[in-house]
Amino acid sequence: MDYEMILKEIKPNTNEKEKVESLAKSMIDFINYTSEKENIPTKALLVGSVAKNTWLSGRADIDIFLHFPLDTSIEDLKKHGLKLGYACIKKMKGTPEERYASHPYVTGHIEGYSVDFVPCYSIENSQELKSAVDRTILHTHYIQSNLRSEQINQVLLLKKFMEGVETYGSEFKVGGFAGYLCELLIIEYGDFKSVLEAASSQWKKGFVIDLENHGTGNNFSEPLVVIDPVDPNRNVAAALNIQKMSEFMAASRNYLQEPKKEYFFNIPRTITKDTILKRFHERGTRPIIISFKAPDIPADAIYPQLKKTETSLKTKMEQNGFKVLRSGYWTNEDTKAFIIIEFDVWNLPHCETHLGPRIWDANHQKKFLEKYASAWLDGNQWVVEIERKHNNVPDFINYLLKKENIHHLKIGKHLKEEILNQYEMKDIDDFLSENNSQKILEFFHQYLNPGKHLRR
Ligand code: CTP
Ligand code: MG
Repeated sequence: MDYEMILKEIKPNTNEKEKVESLAKSMIDFINYTSEKENIPTKALLVGSVAKNTWLSGRADIDIFLHFPLDTSIEDLKKHGLKLGYACIKKMKGTPEERYASHPYVTGHIEGYSVDFVPCYSIENSQELKSAVDRTILHTHYIQSNLRSEQINQVLLLKKFMEGVETYGSEFKVGGFAGYLCELLIIEYGDFKSVLEAASSQWKKGFVIDLENHGTGNNFSEPLVVIDPVDPNRNVAAALNIQKMSEFMAASRNYLQEPKKEYFFNIPRTITKDTILKRFHERGTRPIIISFKAPDIPADAIYPQLKKTETSLKTKMEQNGFKVLRSGYWTNEDTKAFIIIEFDVWNLPHCETHLGPRIWDANHQKKFLEKYASAWLDGNQWVVEIERKHNNVPDFINYLLKKENIHHLKIGKHLKEEILNQYEMKDIDDFLSENNSQKILEFFHQYLNPGKHLRR
């Protein structure tokens, strides 16, 4: 594999690097100047992948942390942190967007870059930790002093490969590998290829990597455990779910068997509504789409609620006798959200068998026969045929999503409010005739081709 050629495309060139670094510097200077002038006890520091030199070309997201002394109250930290962030975004003529990690912070969209301004406490070690984001400065120092310069390229290859096989990102939407985790894997195994080899042949469920020999591996139960070198009590891979861990292992095996450049670059494609519809029609299933407004909460909070709702709907459908072939969900994280449930059995007869007591139980037999005069014996057990309450899918879904019945489902609080307020239920044809953005078509393409991203 010609890694040099791949690096040429993914490593920021001098021009891009200088641009990002000088932009970051001017923002940091502005914050430090302003905080000094206004007597705010904080200093701005460049952290994250730009500070570590491990960012991918075209993808610079600039992380600026404003660290406050430990005796600052959390109220002051939030107030001053946000204020300085907003002031800097305004000065740079960007647009602000308020977000939430362990406390509120502000992201600025500035000159085509996304810049996070995150207030945190200035800590020397993990015992002093006050909020989850405080570790970030320690992480940045750890990588700066432990990742050898020739390993930077290896991190870039690993991140890009992970992007290509769709396992990069620790946000809930992905549930994959964070940037810091990629860096630690390179430190542990040496280079890109060795990480893939280890994942292919050594990783098991619960595999532990403990770079600083903290010995705390047994305290964690996640699928992969990577003890944070700067904090023995944190698993850096906590956000990695078993699905993405497995997908990375499968993709590593595929790649090592036949390395191809295509693993690093997703081939751009145009997906048409007609190809999606054709595939669904060929399957002969019945896909039902329930769409509603996305609640106004952070993206990382929407996804778990969507997942919970999808699972619960599916379970209820199956308990009632319908059969679900596959299901999924999507949101643009802003206005729209939907759940798709694809049925392979969606119509049921009007009757169903209802089981009664065994012949040995005279008391229960009496009660059962009082209620069901037409019951008969199947071997030693009483049975009867009764009328089925719900025999078609749309009616049953409408029934479940009514205010008085929705308690049968396990739905996230915010999603419940939106659904009770309004939802639409459609077949795939109707749904796609009104919702055919590339992003939605892309979702259905992936839905219909679930393993494709792991092999080229
Ligand atoms: N971080 C973390 N765990 C996460 C996400 C973030 O510890 N699940 C910390 C890391 O110290 C990370 C920093 O927050 O370096 C900034 O987060 P992010 O921008 O997501 O990661 P980067 O390392 O900057 O990587 P990327 O190139 O994806 O921006
Ligand atoms: Mg970053």
